Formats: sequence, structure tokens, C-alpha cells
Amino acid sequence: MPAAYPRLRMRRTRASGWSRALHRETALSSSDLIWPLFVTEGRETEEAVPSLPGVSRWSVDGIAARAKEAVALGIPCIALFPNTPADKRSERGEEAHNPDNLMCRAIRAVRDACGGNIGILTDVALDPYTSHGQDGVLDAAGYVANDETVEILVRQALNQAEAGADIIAPSDMMDGRIGVIRDALEEAGHVNVQIMSYAAKYASAFYGPFRDAVGSGGLLKGDKRSYQMDPANAEEALREVALDLNEGADSVMVKPGLAYLDIVYRVKERFGVPVFAYQVSGEYALIEAGAAAGVASKEALVMEKLLSMKRAGCTGILSYHAPLAARLLNG
Ligand code: PBG
Repeated sequence: MPAAYPRLRMRRTRASGWSRALHRETALSSSDLIWPLFVTEGRETEEAVPSLPGVSRWSVDGIAARAKEAVALGIPCIALFPNTPADKRSERGEEAHNPDNLMCRAIRAVRDACGGNIGILTDVALDPYTSHGQDGVLDAAGYVANDETVEILVRQALNQAEAGADIIAPSDMMDGRIGVIRDALEEAGHVNVQIMSYAAKYASAFYGPFRDAVGSGGLLKGDKRSYQMDPANAEEALREVALDLNEGADSVMVKPGLAYLDIVYRVKERFGVPVFAYQVSGEYALIEAGAAAGVASKEALVMEKLLSMKRAGCTGILSYHAPLAARLLNG
């Protein structure tokens, strides 16, 4: 048994700044961050996303500039999401495996600008490419057909790897996709292209602003509950993680972040693998709205939330606040 008051005073080690620094258990660093970026057509184009105040879509040249900014800030990785033009969206999302699509052009531009100094993470799912906004193809009954979708996702993943992606991040929640993507990457010689699986991705109310940013929100009918997870379930998340690791995922993601830190913690405890959380668009927007309403300073809210994710066990965090956080962390 530890000593009791007054021999033990928990406040003793909190009484001065140097002592608080000495006893701090968790540290956040800019190298823990992944910065999600939205790509749009055009040249020298910046489009604001109203539901994500402070976040823009950038044309490919602007994405390359953001990537350089990330390198300068010590952010090791960016995540790319395309806002596909409406006339290139289709029932089956063919644009996803066009070698000259927006995503591939952005990957090449970032590589040209930054060489090997930055990691490029690319999202695998069909929602930025389908005319109906679902992450896969629909059968006659309107159900997202698993196996048919997986075949297309493999082509999408290979397309991204060919363009130079470093981390393939399937966010589609189809069954069995990690294994077949891994096999296809091996066969094509992309042995060092990583897979970060969105293993525990919940059917969340927090994705709305993202869907605005990639232009799929207005198209989506219904919801994604036949593939994304029920927010009530935790055991199921552990099964999803086990399967994806068994199929060859190098790292796993829990998404959204803050409302699911129990899942992060359990994944880390059970599997001891690299685990990432995605602080999603709705979480970002709520911080912005809260700060604007005078709840607290934006900086304080951002840093407390990111630190909490790290404390829960995150290896790293995807956050639209990454550049702000990196600037604060770098002093
Ligand atoms: C696409 C995808 C989504 C997000 C990342 N990849 C949206 C969705 O599943 O509807 C959400 C990210 C965010 O909200 O910031 N499958």
C-alpha cells in the first residue's frame, strides 16, 4: 500500500513547473501527426470547405506546397483525399483506378516536390468516385456488394502504389480486402508499400464535413451501416483488428478518435501493434465551433485532445489540426 496523507501529498510533485515537466508521462511531438489534405482540379486553386472552417481543397500544385510545409513542420506523413469532378463519378467508380486521376497526379507532384522526405498515405474506398456516394458498388437490391467491391479496391490500391503511395489505407470496411491487397502489392513488387487498415471504423455522425469536402455528401442516400461498425460495439472492433493483422496490415486505425479511445486502448493492450486514431472532420469542426463560441482557446482544446489520444495508446494521429499542433509543439 502506498503511504497516505499527509506523508503522501499528490500535489507535491505538481507544485512547480519543473516538477510537472519532470513527471509528465506522455509527450506529443510533430512526428506523431498525419495531415489529411483534400485535392481538387485546377491550377493555383484554393477552395474553402464551409463546414470545415480553416480547411481548403487545394489543386495539385497547392498540395505539393502543403507537403513541403509539412516537411518543414516535422510532420512525417500526409493523407490525400480527392474531390473528383462530378462528370468523372460513376455507378462503379472507375475513376478510382485511372492512372491519371487526381489522386495519382497529386502523389506524383508531392514526390517531385519532397522526394522521400514525406510519407504519402492514400485512402482506398470508392466513395469519392461513385455517383451514389457509397464506398463500394451496389447490387440490384442497393446493397454494397462485398466481393465485387474488393476486386475494384485492389485495382485502386495498385494504381496508388504505382503512382508512388507509401501507405495504402483501406477505409472501405469490406471483408477480406487487406489480404488480397497485400498479395497484389507483393506480386507487383511493391514489397515496401505499407498497409494501414482502417480496421475499426464506425458508422459515425462525425464524418459529415469530410463528405462535403470530397463532394460525396449530397450524393449519399441512406447510410453506411451495412459495412461500418455499430458505435455500440467494442469486442467486434477487436475481431476486425485481429483479422486485418492476420491478413497482413502493418498498422491499424481506429476512427473516429475521441469518442473511441477505449477501443484504441484495448487494441494497444491486446495486440501491441502500431495503432492510429483519426480525429475526423466532425471532431475538427466541433473544436472550431467551440472555440468560436468562447468555450476555451482553440489551441488549448486541440492540444488536450491530441495528447489524450497519445495517452490512450496512439502511435500517431490523423488530424486536420496537424499544422497548428506542429507549430505549437515546435515552439
Ligand atoms: C471514406 C472516408 C471517410 C472518411 C475517411 N475516409 C468518410 C466516410 O466513411 O463516409 C472520414 C474522415 C473524416 O470525417 O474526417 N471511406
